[in-house]
Amino acid sequence: MEKITTERLVLRPWEDSDVDFVYDLYSRWVVQRFIGTEPRVMESLAEAAERVRRFQAIEHPVHGIWAVTRKTDGLAVGTLLLKPIPASGEEPLTASDDVEIGWHFHPDHWGNGYASEAATAVLEHAFEGGLDHVVAVTNPANEASQSVCRRIGMEHKGQSKKYYNATCELFEVENPATAKNTAAASISGGVAL
Ligand SMILES: CC(C)(COP(=O)(O)OP(=O)(O)OC[C@H]1O[C@@H](n2cnc3c(N)ncnc32)[C@H](O)[C@@H]1OP(=O)(O)O)[C@@H](O)C(=O)NCCC(=O)NCCS
Repeated sequence: MEKITTERLVLRPWEDSDVDFVYDLYSRWVVQRFIGTEPRVMESLAEAAERVRRFQAIEHPVHGIWAVTRKTDGLAVGTLLLKPIPASGEEPLTASDDVEIGWHFHPDHWGNGYASEAATAVLEHAFEGGLDHVVAVTNPANEASQSVCRRIGMEHKGQSKKYYNATCELFEVENPATAKNTAAASISGGVAL
């Protein structure tokens, strides 16, 4: 997984020494309350270590789960995800063909624009990597996350039950390169007619 650098942040692979941060992040109800169909907080460092191992296990040229760190001092501030999204269906859910972007930030670092800055860079990486669109889903009550979707240019598609066996607000953004080609094709098609 490649490192991604933005103006204020470095998105890097997870390290074993991140376990304490992962526990601090995911043991908080304010972070977990809108994540998953039955939200629950992380309860042990062992669970955090297992989570870090799962984050590290993703080996893919484009998908990834990054530790978001601050450029100035290396402090971990959150998680940025780009991965296949599970389709609704029989449990255990299996991945759909769509790729989702997601973000989990430590409340000490909300309100700085870090999630939007990191997500913008990951979207760019996704499109350079050839994805033609990316989706995001949020709990309907998760306004902070819906604001991130809008800030990074995702379009609200209304509510959907397509993913995670849950009713979610669905956001989507197309790869501008692919979208432009489609527009150009239809314009030149129009001219030819
Ligand atoms: C969702 C979440 C990542 C949003 O975090 P956030 O810090 O509000 O989001 P952003 O990084 O976009 O920051 C925007 C805020 O920073 C402010 N800000 C300050 N400096 C900024 C800058 N340079 N650029 C952009 N925004 C800036 C904005 O005004 C905005 O504050 P406001 O909400 O008070 O108006 C965070 O609430 C979270 O981690 N929640 C728990 C996990 C979760 O629910 N994840 C989503 C699951 S779908």
